[in-house]
Amino acid sequence: MFRLFVTVVALAVLINAELRRNPVSKFVGELILGGSDPNHYLGKITYVNITHKGSWQFTMDKIQIEHSSLCSSSCQAIVDTGTAVLIGPQLDIEVINELIGATYINEEIIVTENNTTKCMSAFESPYFSDEYVKSEWVLGNVFIRRYFIEFDMKNDRIGFASKK
Ligand SMILES: *[C@@H]1O[C@H](CO)[C@@H](O)[C@H](O)[C@H]1NC(C)=O
Ligand SMILES: *[C@@H]1O[C@H](CO)[C@@H](O)[C@H](O)[C@H]1NC(C)=O
Ligand SMILES: *[C@@H]1O[C@H](CO)[C@@H](O)[C@H](O)[C@H]1NC(C)=O
Repeated sequence: MFRLFVTVVALAVLINAELRRNPVSKFVGELILGGSDPNHYLGKITYVNITHKGSWQFTMDKIQIEHSSLCSSSCQAIVDTGTAVLIGPQLDIEVINELIGATYINEEIIVTENNTTKCMSAFESPYFSDEYVKSEWVLGNVFIRRYFIEFDMKNDRIGFASKK
């Protein structure tokens, strides 16, 4: 069996800030082409079928945050390594940002503590509404780096598992 291990270049940009703080970050990733390594995930992989070929789009059943549910009668999402943040419809994003204690200041969404910036929120609504017309949610690198994800071209499906 042929397996190629390469450093994840796309993710490196995003985790750069994290790495500067902590060189042995838990968010360090690996890209495997042509295979899947069970040493990197816990339990079984959960697969979802692709609903739109070419963009890794799938049907997301629901988003549950504490007692709030969004996308409650399912919605479309894509997993996109080319997007850094997590993008969704404006109203839903506002709900999430309120729940995590983030406020909108000068077009930035910031979590503050004692009037000092603690971090930036990674939940954003689309800048250009026509850019993401095909899907409602874009799960970018802040999502991807927390999971083991299989992009299965042969079976037109995406697999998700918890990272080891
Ligand atoms: C996913 O696609 C496969 C292959 O077409 C099909 O057998 C399976 O039933 C589908 N699963 C769901 C949950 O739709
Ligand atoms: C934060 O800043 C505002 C305006 O500068 C001030 O009125 C407020 O008391 C400050 N709050 C804290 C917790 O320092
Ligand atoms: C914020 O301010 C409160 C009250 O002045 C203080 O108890 C707390 O430690 C401060 N938190 C930080 C992170 O500075």
